[in-house]
Amino acid sequence: IHEPPHSFFSNSLSVDAQTLQKQIGELSTFSDSPAPSVTRILYTDKDVLVRRYVKNLMGLAGLSVREDAIGNIFGRWDGYESELGAVATGSHIDAIPYSGKYDGVVGVLGAIEAINVLKRSGFTPKRSLDIILFTSEEPTRFGISCLGSRLLAGSGALEKALKTTVDGQNISFLDAARSAGYAIGQDDLSNVFIKKGSYYAFVELHIEQGSILEERGISIGIVTAIAAPASIKVDFEGNGGHAGAVLMPNRNDAGLAAAELALAVEKHVLESGSIDTVGTVGILDLHPGAINSIPSKSHLEIDTRDIDEKRRNIVIEKIHQSAVTIAKNRGVELSEFKIINQDPPAQCDKSIIEAMEAASKELNISHKSMISRAYHDSLFMARISPMGMIFIPCYKGYSHKPEEFASIEDIANGVKLLALTLAKLSLQ
Ligand code: GLV
Ligand code: MN
Ligand code: MN
Ligand code: MN
Repeated sequence: IHEPPHSFFSNSLSVDAQTLQKQIGELSTFSDSPAPSVTRILYTDKDVLVRRYVKNLMGLAGLSVREDAIGNIFGRWDGYESELGAVATGSHIDAIPYSGKYDGVVGVLGAIEAINVLKRSGFTPKRSLDIILFTSEEPTRFGISCLGSRLLAGSGALEKALKTTVDGQNISFLDAARSAGYAIGQDDLSNVFIKKGSYYAFVELHIEQGSILEERGISIGIVTAIAAPASIKVDFEGNGGHAGAVLMPNRNDAGLAAAELALAVEKHVLESGSIDTVGTVGILDLHPGAINSIPSKSHLEIDTRDIDEKRRNIVIEKIHQSAVTIAKNRGVELSEFKIINQDPPAQCDKSIIEAMEAASKELNISHKSMISRAYHDSLFMARISPMGMIFIPCYKGYSHKPEEFASIEDIANGVKLLALTLAKLSLQ
């Protein structure tokens, strides 16, 4: 009775692209760097303002809004069989320094619009539908990626670590969370955990962050797996000294150790022989940071990923070996080699993939299967729920830079597909 005839139903899905585009534009103005770049860091004023903006839209869409102790935000549309596992969608609104408007945002504002699309069509959900705004997908402030989804998915290690985690300014995670109105009066964050089985399915809409869809003129990427990410923090310490007075044979330059390790990362990644292995040194700090002072300390942060977990782990081991050898040869101390995270890859669920494929066909939207080389909150949602992802094309694959762009037509296609997929899963 509740399931409308399919062709009729898919014809009645219409996305309000103009309003969605306006919202994406408005949201991008909450930024700590000048347009067109976007910088939005966890628990800053801009992050809090955007949370307010999103909660307001959730309310206008008729969702009941709830927040957990670290600021994961849930907007729920109750189904008529609300005791069944809910179907969830969502993404993040934090943005790394000098990035763009679409990463994460499309999956949050697009999810709200997908709910509006379903409401306008007269759809009634059987399983409840949840939109989740995840806290800090990006590792910018506390060095921890997918913080919100990782904790939500039950990471006891993270729950413990957050008690002592501090940011670059030595502000503790808990103080930062409290300044944004979260974690008030609580040190125990295990109440953020969500039990496996609470969700029947999780689907995330996201820009591809690669150029395959655009190059081939295909509207939708249906993700089959998410590559395994890892990150490492390294510190070297030497004696420093005067850049003129200390002669070359007498130096133990921590900066050069870092430079050598950065090149070793590239070498070990290339040695894997696979195009799927990648490695990046995105942070390299020298202390004291004066032109006429030999660096006495250096700090690197290394990101390495692969779709093959074993191969990625071999790279990590080689990087560690190199760090030890470089320190020895240069007479500096390897004072820290800390693997921050070393996550396995995630597989997308077959029946969700089928639902997305069926929805694409009904809507007549071209699609292809692909892997996600970027990580997403979906990587962690997969620990507690069957998971799927929808990619839309983005200009030249640009992401994590101001030139990031997705056309409103492509976004609207993604939203429509998300809406129909959620409807299908809700009725299962
Ligand atoms: C997340 O933004 C990633 O780096 O994949
Ligand atoms: Mn990102
Ligand atoms: Mn993202
Ligand atoms: Mn990401």
